[in-house]
This record gives sequence, structure tokens and C-alpha cells, in this order.
Amino acid sequence: MLFFLDTANPDQIRTAAAWGVLDGVTTNPTLMAREGREPKALVQEIARWVSGPISVETTSLDAEGMVREAREFVGWAPNVVVKVPMTPEGLRAVTALREEGIRTNVTLVFSPVQALLAAKAGAYFVSPFVGRLDDVGHVGMDVVRQAVEILRGYGYPTKVLAASLRHPLHVLEAARAGADIATMPFGTLEQLFRHPLTDLGLERFLEDWRKLQAELLARSSAPAGS
Ligand code: G3P
Repeated sequence: MLFFLDTANPDQIRTAAAWGVLDGVTTNPTLMAREGREPKALVQEIARWVSGPISVETTSLDAEGMVREAREFVGWAPNVVVKVPMTPEGLRAVTALREEGIRTNVTLVFSPVQALLAAKAGAYFVSPFVGRLDDVGHVGMDVVRQAVEILRGYGYPTKVLAASLRHPLHVLEAARAGADIATMPFGTLEQLFRHPLTDLGLERFLEDWRKLQAELLARSSAPAGS
């Protein structure tokens, strides 16, 4: 399973890359706005830390505008994937971009049939939003499960990218559902490391090691024959 960070923050991306667990990045206009920087320079900085796919989202509502933006984005870094919304215009853009060899990520997907449409149009990634469905009382992970079942069943090459993941249980369930990718905020990635028994176990090992060192020191400084 691939892990992407859902952020546009270069420090977070650099940190996760150094941990050796970062396969890519997803951004959206909200995450970009949070950084308050010129998008091209920001994406190019992100590309210094991650060689895997970096999703950059279009903001046009018509396919021609999306295609124009996409052509510009892929000139920023070779690993840019263009995010387009799950609309008829979005899929028109996916179709045109596929013919140009530009990879797309269809975003704002909230149902398995939307995922099927994106796959039919030739999207590289399809992004069901789990947390936002949970927020409105639906089981968001069901969309991931069904999208995986349908796309694998028919042999579509489109990869299911579980998005809007908010906590470690979402990541676990996305993995069990067979999602190809989980994209998550930095805080969620950090949480995946944590287990109280890891901390406790480490504390005990270090304490025992310190005791051994103290014992060896005491023995070596004791008078001979004592
Ligand atoms: O990748 C989509 C993601 O950024 C949405 O997450 O938490 O805003 O629903 P969230």
C-alpha cells in the first residue's frame, strides 16, 4: 500500500520522506491556501522531497480551462498528477488529458458509481472522500470497499486513493479494503507510529541498560578481590 501525505507543507513532507514511508503527496486549493505561497514555487519545493506523484488541483469549471491548467502544472515538476473534480467537465478533461499522456486524479468522489465513471474515462487515481461521508452520517469506507471491488473486478487500471482520512483506524480500514493508496494528514501519519507498549517497552529496556552500565562501573571501580 502506498502512503501519501495530504498536505502542501514542505516541512511535513521533508520529515515524512526522511522516515522512508512517503510515496507521494496530495494537495488541494484549501491546503495550498493554508501555506499562503505562490503555487508553482511551492510545488517545485515539494518536488525536491518527493519523487512520487504530487497531485495539484485545477480550479476551472470547464474542461478547456482544466486542460490549460493541467498543461501548466505538469511543466512545474515531472511527477505532477492533475486533480480534477468529479463532474462531466472534469471527465471531459480526464479524457483529453489521457490522450496527451497527462495523469489525472479524479477528486470529490462520494459514491462507487462515480469511481466507476472516473475509471471508464481513464483516470490514473480516483479519490473517494471517507471522512466527509462519515461527517454526514454515511460509512465513508464503504465507498472505498465497493470502488476497489468494482474496479478490480473489471480490471480497470485506475488506482483507488482513499482520501479524507482523519485517523489511524481509517488507514487500517483502507488497507483492509484493498485501497492502493491512503492519503492522510501529517498528524495521522505520526499517530500510526504510536503505541503505549512501544513507549513503555523502550523505557524499560533503557532503564535496564542503565542499571547494567551502573553495575559494570561499580564492579570495575571496586578494589580487587572485594
Ligand atoms: O484529499 C482530500 C482531503 O484533503 C480532504 O480531506 O479532511 O478536508 O475532508 P478533509
